Amino acid sequence: MSEQTDSTTAEYWADRWKEGHTGWHRQEVNAYLIKYVHELTAGRPKVRVFVPLCGKSVDMLWLADQGHTVVGVEVARKAIETFFSENNLSFTVEIVKMATDNEPVDKYTCNEKAITIFCCNLFSIAEDDVGGRFDAIWDRGSLSAVAPAFDDNGKRYTKKMRSLLASDGNYMLESHYYEIDRGMRPPACISEELRNKIYGEDFIIRELEINRLEEDPNRSLSFALDLHYHLFKPKEN
Ligand SMILES: C[S@@+](CC[C@H](N)C(=O)[O-])C[C@H]1O[C@@H](n2cnc3c(N)ncnc32)[C@H](O)[C@@H]1O
Repeated sequence: MSEQTDSTTAEYWADRWKEGHTGWHRQEVNAYLIKYVHELTAGRPKVRVFVPLCGKSVDMLWLADQGHTVVGVEVARKAIETFFSENNLSFTVEIVKMATDNEPVDKYTCNEKAITIFCCNLFSIAEDDVGGRFDAIWDRGSLSAVAPAFDDNGKRYTKKMRSLLASDGNYMLESHYYEIDRGMRPPACISEELRNKIYGEDFIIRELEINRLEEDPNRSLSFALDLHYHLFKPKEN
């Protein structure tokens, strides 16, 4: 199996969940999401937020507690079911037919909060499956997980995001930049050049902030890296 096949397949991620190799997961709500949520929602209450490749992120819980409606997509069933159990939430599962993909998928609806998670590949989702385009997208560890520098993965990904975002919506991204070669291993390194190449055609790019992290042997990614925060707005086509 090539390295590329490995890190972009459902099996790769299912194995990581099975083995507990989920070093990206945080117990706390993302501080930059809290800081910039008004930019993300444009100050609007009760918006529909998409959390692609959501894992068991507690950011979903926090967004729902702010009054927003959250939709996630996650290929690993274990991640979804752990999200509900760790947060003492119950769910209902429905098998749903997708608009453009033949394979029906499991849709998990939370009984207590406005959170729905589709158990499938991100690329199987179309706007008709999720009740129309979203007002906001919160992307942490999603672009980073699809090997965006390889083949046309990056452009394919940003085109999918654009197709799911309302024309007056906002898309906030956390991405990593570092100076070592890690091949295709997530999280991907997103240079300014790659960012411009994959977002420039469809989005207006605004850099919000950079958080510089020095080398730290106690961190799961121990090398020096920068966390970049961006806000993208759809360009008028
Ligand atoms: C790096 S983790 C990030 C999780 C989450 N966003 C967070 O911040 O904790 C990437 C997640 O995406 C899932 N995943 C990877 N590729 C996927 C795809 N093509 N479609 C749906 N989920 C995918 C993995 O199972 C994993 O849980």
